[in-house]
Amino acid sequence: MRTQVGIIGAGPAGLMLSHLLHLQGIESVIIENRTREEIEGTIRAGVLEQGTVDLMKATGVGERLSREAHFHHGIELRFNRKGHRINMHELTGGKNVTVYAQHEVIKDLVAARLQAGGELIFNAGDVSLHDLDTATPKIRFRKDKAGELQEIVCDFIAGCDGFHGPCRAAIPGTVRKTYEKKYPLGWLGILIEAPPSAPELVYAHHERGFALLSTRSPEIQRLYIQVDPTDDIANWSDDRIWTELHARLETDEGWKLIEGPIIQKGIIAMRSFVCDPMQYGRLFLAGDAAHIVPPTGAKGLNLAVADVQVLARGFDAFYKTRKTELLERYSATCLRRIWKAERFSSFMTSLLHVNMDHSPFERGIQLAELDYITSSRAASTSLAENYVGLPMEW
Ligand code: FAD
Ligand code: DHB
Repeated sequence: MRTQVGIIGAGPAGLMLSHLLHLQGIESVIIENRTREEIEGTIRAGVLEQGTVDLMKATGVGERLSREAHFHHGIELRFNRKGHRINMHELTGGKNVTVYAQHEVIKDLVAARLQAGGELIFNAGDVSLHDLDTATPKIRFRKDKAGELQEIVCDFIAGCDGFHGPCRAAIPGTVRKTYEKKYPLGWLGILIEAPPSAPELVYAHHERGFALLSTRSPEIQRLYIQVDPTDDIANWSDDRIWTELHARLETDEGWKLIEGPIIQKGIIAMRSFVCDPMQYGRLFLAGDAAHIVPPTGAKGLNLAVADVQVLARGFDAFYKTRKTELLERYSATCLRRIWKAERFSSFMTSLLHVNMDHSPFERGIQLAELDYITSSRAASTSLAENYVGLPMEW
């Protein structure tokens, strides 16, 4: 088999890249090691930056999003049992916070690729990369996990295989620098059947730990609480989760949390991670394969989409003019914006979480920071412009 761009991974990065390449007349094949049902059913992120929404709409995959997503004008920061609204729409000249689940983005992109005759190979096994420093890099894999070994000869390979995939490790250790921070923090996330308790997202700082109220639909809500990342979900009965949510979210202003049956729960650990460079020979990494942010700034999915916009432009220039300048600058172009998202995600994480090692002085500083952000227009504008998404830097 032969293709122009071989893409490993059908997450937001791989699917959006394949979609953008198709619109530019460039052929691609996606190799994914999970089934279509699995990728369309995995519960992950929920908040889309304005740039991600604009791109989906401009490229013909925003129709369901326009109908079903929740477009919020702001978020609430809650601390000392009081809510403080940040009006993102006003502070950023009309940008919104869009809540639309990652697996809905995945469903829309898979449907668009299949409808356009795109080649997606699900449930592949033993995926490996070869000859990256030649003009004909190759991907080998087994169909349906155990079939015969097959090979795709490519012009380029896009490593969109998430944090645990094989692509990053294919860049020799002598070339690759990594930057990492692990946090003693985790999020326990739940989905519940209930109407929304608030009109917009609520990020709550509380002495018992952070809590976040988000939404999915008029009937399904998404909530998170800060927990120990090594904790076992079996230690968290529904009653214990509700007790924490009430304690951390309730206010002195009469606001009440609406309960409902918990239909899904799980714990994720947090880390910040950057790989530099994001390219080697004819391999280009995009999304979580190259970088991870803690989820507090809602940046992970959006960064993945931003990377592949830069990459698609580079491939477009290559196939139209044979010029490689944009591709050579791919890493540097992406990393400038990625580091800013790393900064923001790490800032939001330390602003809102309770670290048991914090001294009373450090907690005083944290509350002063929240007070400052919610009372200074300059500080809330800075938070707002980062949250809705910084402009692309080409
Ligand atoms: P992924 O979505 O990870 O996609 C990579 C794809 O590659 C997967 O489909 C995987 O199956 C496939 N793959 C892996 N190995 C191979 C292989 N060997 N061969 C072929 N295919 C392979 N971000 C937020 O902003 N907010 C959140 O609340 C949030 N929650 C998260 C919860 C979890 C459990 C995780 C893991 C991440 C969460 N994130 C969140 C981050 C966000 O979901 C990611 O940043 C986003 O999915 C990145 O997209 P991606 O396409 O780069 O990678
Ligand atoms: C959601 C996830 C986030 O990481 C965040 O900051 C806000 C909302 C969500 O899953 O809805």
